Amino acid sequence: KANARESLYLVSEFANTYFQKTLHKTNPGKAIGLSYFKERGFTPETIKKFDLGYSLDEWQAFSDEALKQGYNIEFLEKTGLTIVKGDKHFDRFKGRVMFPIKSMSGRVLGFGGRILTNDKKAAKYLNSPESDIYHKSKVLYGIYNAKQAIAKEDNCYLVEGYTDVIQFHQTGIHNVVSSSGTALTPEQIRLINRLTNNITVLFDGDAAGIRASLRGIDLILEQGMNVKVCGFPEGEDPDSFARENTLEELTTYLEEHATDFIRYKASVLVDEAKNDPIKRAETIKDIVVSISKIPDRIKQEIYLRECSKIMDISETVLFSTLQQLTQKAL
Ligand code: CTP
Ligand code: MN
Ligand code: MN
Ligand code: MN
Ligand code: MN
Repeated sequence: KANARESLYLVSEFANTYFQKTLHKTNPGKAIGLSYFKERGFTPETIKKFDLGYSLDEWQAFSDEALKQGYNIEFLEKTGLTIVKGDKHFDRFKGRVMFPIKSMSGRVLGFGGRILTNDKKAAKYLNSPESDIYHKSKVLYGIYNAKQAIAKEDNCYLVEGYTDVIQFHQTGIHNVVSSSGTALTPEQIRLINRLTNNITVLFDGDAAGIRASLRGIDLILEQGMNVKVCGFPEGEDPDSFARENTLEELTTYLEEHATDFIRYKASVLVDEAKNDPIKRAETIKDIVVSISKIPDRIKQEIYLRECSKIMDISETVLFSTLQQLTQKAL
């Protein structure tokens, strides 16, 4: 079993080298892949730093090369890079720019591949399937390149996508990782928790996911971490915003807009509920649920006081609601 996993690592490592070679050394790679990255404002250093690559728009270019180099079809299939149908085999990634996903220690676990058009019908990103080495709920994109900076800055920025991570690095902010579009999991939070107690969650300015993401954040509180959140202007994401601004502007923006999560949630909920008494009652419970996740009693008390002011409700009621919740949990 350990040997089988090692074989998957070797296949993934080979693929990583292959996709980079394809990007830099083939005509389609240069004409299509490299120009795409340049168009997005990625420098050659950035492309190298993140091992970005390209997969040819052919049926089995990668798989055939891997087989020729002696890699076993069984392991190619197990990484998901090759799809086997009867006696035929096909490449999973075709005509996409490639983003290798690495473990904390830098081993290649899987890939994300982006189409080059903005065709709304095709899936924009295709990702490696779950395998013996790739468990998407346990991985954070960018963690290998970010770990030192996260520890040094004692904070981790959490963004939605691959390109957000990459553009932040290029702008000069290195303590950044991405959950790659999936809901944050406790395992992913534990990875960050090993390096710092502070997370700043950055939302795309498309508002779509904000409500949903607010829920996921309770998982971060549960691990005793401090959470701030920060949005971007409508239509912007961390990638586009970083690209249009200098490091100084970006840093200032983050400092000015990163808001304590509980404070943020309380004010968003208050705005939403307006004067509807039923909604107000629900939102007050909602915020107390978040506060109940915080393991530290002193912090809980401080947040209760703060929310009592923001939501204009007595501390006594908030406190007894919290007690009810805590007792139910026991
Ligand atoms: N994602 C995915 N599959 C999709 C769409 C998104 O896996 N069909 C994941 C990717 O990891 C992506 C992240 O969700 O990076 C965030 O999605 P989105 O904000 O739509 O993409 P961006 O990262 O902004 O990508 P781009 O700038 O290339 O459009
Ligand atoms: Mn910690
Ligand atoms: Mn988005
Ligand atoms: Mn985005
Ligand atoms: Mn984007």
